[in-house]
Amino acid sequence: MRIPESKIEEVRSSSDIVDIISSYLTLKKRGKNYLGLCPFHKEKSPSFNVSAEKQMYHCFGCGVGGNVFTFVMELEKVSFIEAVRTLADKAGISLPSEGSEDRTQATENEALYTLCQMTGRYYFDNLTNTVEGKLALEYFHHRGFTDDTIRKFGLGYSMHSWDALIKKAEQEKISVEQLDKAGLVVKREDGSGYYDRFRGRAMFPIFSASGRTIGFGARKMREDDPLGKYINSPETPIYNKSRSLYGIFHSKESIREKEFAILVEGYADLISVFQAGIENVVASSGTALTEEQIQLIGRYAKNITLVYDADSAGSKATIRGVDLVIENGLDVKIAALPAGEDPDSFVKKHGAVEFQKLLGSAVSFLDFKAKMFQSQGLLETPEGQTRAVRSIVETIAKMKDEIQRNFYIKSVAERYGIYENVLFRELEKLIGKERSHEQQVRRREISQELPQDNTDAQKQPMSNELSAPERDLLKLMLENGNEMVQFILSRVEPELFKHPRARQMVQFIRQRAREGIALDANSLVNDLEDVDLKHFIADLAFRKYELSSGWAAIDSLPEEADPWEIAESCVTILRRQQIDGLITDNQRHMKAAAAKGEPTTEFMERHLALLQKKKELDSARLPEIVKK
Ligand code: UTP
Ligand code: MN
Repeated sequence: MRIPESKIEEVRSSSDIVDIISSYLTLKKRGKNYLGLCPFHKEKSPSFNVSAEKQMYHCFGCGVGGNVFTFVMELEKVSFIEAVRTLADKAGISLPSEGSEDRTQATENEALYTLCQMTGRYYFDNLTNTVEGKLALEYFHHRGFTDDTIRKFGLGYSMHSWDALIKKAEQEKISVEQLDKAGLVVKREDGSGYYDRFRGRAMFPIFSASGRTIGFGARKMREDDPLGKYINSPETPIYNKSRSLYGIFHSKESIREKEFAILVEGYADLISVFQAGIENVVASSGTALTEEQIQLIGRYAKNITLVYDADSAGSKATIRGVDLVIENGLDVKIAALPAGEDPDSFVKKHGAVEFQKLLGSAVSFLDFKAKMFQSQGLLETPEGQTRAVRSIVETIAKMKDEIQRNFYIKSVAERYGIYENVLFRELEKLIGKERSHEQQVRRREISQELPQDNTDAQKQPMSNELSAPERDLLKLMLENGNEMVQFILSRVEPELFKHPRARQMVQFIRQRAREGIALDANSLVNDLEDVDLKHFIADLAFRKYELSSGWAAIDSLPEEADPWEIAESCVTILRRQQIDGLITDNQRHMKAAAAKGEPTTEFMERHLALLQKKKELDSARLPEIVKK
């Protein structure tokens, strides 16, 4: 089954490589790139680089690399087509296929996304452009939300009417059944049709991590509104509540940067905290935290700080949240708000600095639980203490990281004056069963890895064989467009490249240039069959220009360095090497001729001509670093 080029391009441009790779491993921003532990080989310090700008990845440890498609192909061990499909699914793009159900579903979802987006715009329009909406706008302003915030979060207003949205949809030729699928209307009990679900409410659109509108939260504003404070979209094919987190689209970059996520409960909490400049915040929208939500956060950071209202009945839910976070391999801290406050009211009353302080005073789960047991009076009797300690060790047993487990066992030992040995024995008992299971899994993984490790060992480190000008020229061709390619190809033949793979690449680039096909690294990676060549290209993309190494070592040319100048000098070096080779050859022939007593004038002349050529080349302008 062939997927049209344009579709492949659409999938590629909607699949941000940093987002996709983040769903498999944790990336941290380092300068322009993102860095993480390579999923293709075992390593302790990260050498796996991802570039948002180039939309490529490369591991300096094991040499793998490519674009978003090769990543999925190599990690999931699937074909190119399957990788395109996987990514298309994630991006909600429908691909042609043999009329399968998948396809219909994807197309249907696509329509729902569009409908929700349209509806969000409509609510925003009501808010900002209607007389009735002014009330809601004032409400938001009164809550301290700025116009910028309102725009950023796409806040809106649903008209106080049974069918304002239905009518709007009619105009747009959207059926009410479609609205129903998107959860935007409610079926009348007597079966006589539908009415708008959200009426006369302040609207909070809910976005997926990739920024698509998937549902709405709606806050009551009017005294005569008989329904709850908030009503929300129901589950729909595109809105899965246990997998969504309010605010994640806006906060993911900051979560990654700060290396932790702040978890609050409400829509307004999130917006107020975010507006105060603390952007690494997500909201569970009042429901208990789920495993999927924790994993969603885990894409961006491994630490979560729960903010909770100390006096509310929320503490039970908080405790469950704590255990769940730990079970999922993330670390958790708990920050307690003063009684009666929520993050929204706290930030408004005390400001961002105080909220930061509150976050700074967040306690580990251990302190949190100890305090809780203490307040229950458990710590006063030996039996109570035993129960408390056992409960804590149970939580520790859920940690996946052994070092982390040891660390916490030591703290418990200290805090309660219990021998570490005793605690470790308790811990062993609890994890013994799970561990043996884990070991089996591990053993299977290792046996699968073995053959791959062997082939890796045989692989030569290609980059070391490649000379600086060859590498720089290839990089220049991939990064500067067709004109640069023409410039270089008009001055050097592929045969001037000594490194076999480099030569192969130049030939490939020349052929593509003739056919007028895109020449950037990312599209080349798509069209090449040879995996080693793909890795080779990714390697190039992440290398520095060696001939610019006299400039600050950064991964692209500094502003003042002229790529054309670098190209010129690389060409000169290759041509000089070529002439040197010809001179050596010629001298060998001359010697051979002399030995046989044959005339050597011809060789002499050639020698002089070659020397002259070399002289001409040498007088060409070279950057300082290239001149010997
Ligand atoms: P809260 O009752 O704490 O409200 O619910 P809030 O966030 O402080 O709301 P404001 O400040 O009065 O506007 C916390 C969250 O629980 C969900 C919402 O997501 C809300 O933000 N919730 C609450 C509902 O879904 N339905 C409700 O009726 C109430
Ligand atoms: Mn509130």
